[in-house]
Amino acid sequence: MGYIRRVASKLPPELSVFAGFLGVCRRRPGVPGGPPLYSDQVSSSHQATAVRYLNVGDPNAFGFKTPPHLVAAVERAMRDGHNGYGPSPGIPAAREAVAAELTSCGFPISADRALITAGTSEAIDLVLSALVDGGGEVLVPMPTYPLYTAVLAKIDARARYYLTDPTRGWQPDLDHLRSLVTSNTRALVVIDPNNPTGATYPASTRRELLEFADRHNLVILADEVYGDLGYDGPIEPLGKLDPDAAIITFSSLSKAYLAPGWRTGWMGVGRSPRLDGALAAIKKMADGRLCSTVPMQFAVAEALLGDRSHQPIFRNELKARAALTVRSLTSMAGMSCVAPIAGFYVMPKVQLPPGRTDEDYVLGLLRATGVLCVYGSGFGMRPEDGFFRIVFLAPPDELTAIYKMMADFTTQYLARG
Ligand SMILES: Cc1ncc(COP(=O)(O)O)c(C=O)c1O
Repeated sequence: MGYIRRVASKLPPELSVFAGFLGVCRRRPGVPGGPPLYSDQVSSSHQATAVRYLNVGDPNAFGFKTPPHLVAAVERAMRDGHNGYGPSPGIPAAREAVAAELTSCGFPISADRALITAGTSEAIDLVLSALVDGGGEVLVPMPTYPLYTAVLAKIDARARYYLTDPTRGWQPDLDHLRSLVTSNTRALVVIDPNNPTGATYPASTRRELLEFADRHNLVILADEVYGDLGYDGPIEPLGKLDPDAAIITFSSLSKAYLAPGWRTGWMGVGRSPRLDGALAAIKKMADGRLCSTVPMQFAVAEALLGDRSHQPIFRNELKARAALTVRSLTSMAGMSCVAPIAGFYVMPKVQLPPGRTDEDYVLGLLRATGVLCVYGSGFGMRPEDGFFRIVFLAPPDELTAIYKMMADFTTQYLARG
C-alpha cells in the first residue's frame, strides 16, 4: 500500500482533520518579514474579520528575530562555499557542539552519537523508522503531537496513547501507561516540556518513566525541543537522571534559537550499548537522505557554544505572555486552564453545553472574532471535553485585545446553550 493510502487509512479521523485544519490555516500574507496577523479574512454575517493566528508555533511569525550571530554564521558558510552536500550525520563541528551541550547538561555522549537532522521532525522520522517494524507499537502521550502518529502510520506501526491528566498539571497517568504495554511495544515517547500542554514533569515522574521503560526494555524518545524555554530557566534533559538509560534525545534551532525555517535539528543517542544497533541503523538511513541543509549546520556550534543572551530575554517575554494568558483565561466564565511552565502553548478547557464539540466552539470563535486556535480533538482529545490550544506568542497588547474578544464570545456562546 502506498504512503498516502497507508497514512490516510491509519490516521485517526481527528488527526486528519487537524492536518487539514493546519493546512488551511497556515497560509501566510505576502508581506516579507511581516507578522502573519491580520492577513486573511473570515466573513461573519455582518462584516469581514481579520484573522489572528494563534495556531502556529513559529516565534518568527510573531516578530521574534533569529540572533544575528547565527544568521552571520550561515551567511559566512555560504560565502565560504559550503554549498555542496555534507557528511550524512552532519558536519563535525555541529556534532561536537551537540555532544558538548548534552554532556554539559548531564547527559554525556560522544560526537559520534550526535546526528544533525532537518529539524526535530526528521530526527523523529529517522529514529522511529530505524527502531520500529511494521506491527510494532510506540507509547505516545495524549494530547499528542501529531507527527508521531503520522510517522508511525507511514511505517505501518501503531501509536498507543497514554493519557496525561489536566487535573494533575497534565502529568502522565502512569497506571494508564502501564496498562498499554504489550510484547510488541518498542518505544516510549516523552515530550517534556510539552506541546500542546506547556507542562514539564518533576523528577519523581521522570524517574518512574525511566524505570518503566527499563523494565520493559523500551527505548525512550525524549522530545526536548522546548527544553531551553522554561520560564525560570532551562529544563534539564531527562537523561540527566540516568545517563546510561536507553534514551535518544531531540532538539533543534527552531524554537529556542528562533530559526524554524532553517530546518536544522539534532539527536543525541545515549551511551547505552543497547542503542548501538539503533545508532547504526539510524546512520544508514541518514546516509540514504544524503545530508541535512549544510550552511545552516554552521550555526549549530555558534548556537550551542556561543552567545545565548537572547534566551533569557525570550524566556521573560514568554513568562509574561503566559501569566497574561492564564489571568485572562481563568477570569472567563466557563473557562479553565493549567498554567504552562515552559514554551508558548496553553491548552484551556471550555465547559461546553451538552451536544457541542471543541470544533464547534473553535470555529464559532473564528467566525465571530477572527481568532484562530486549534481544537483539542486535533490533538486526539475527546471533542465533547472542550479543550483547545492557544499559541501565545503575539505581543501582550494584542493578546489582551484577543482575550477580551474571546471572553465576550464565550459568554454569548455558553448563554446560547
Ligand atoms: C513537540 C514537538 N516536537 C517536534 C517539533 C518539530 O520541530 P522542528 O521544527 O525541530 O522539526 C515540534 C514543533 O512544533 C514540537 O512541538
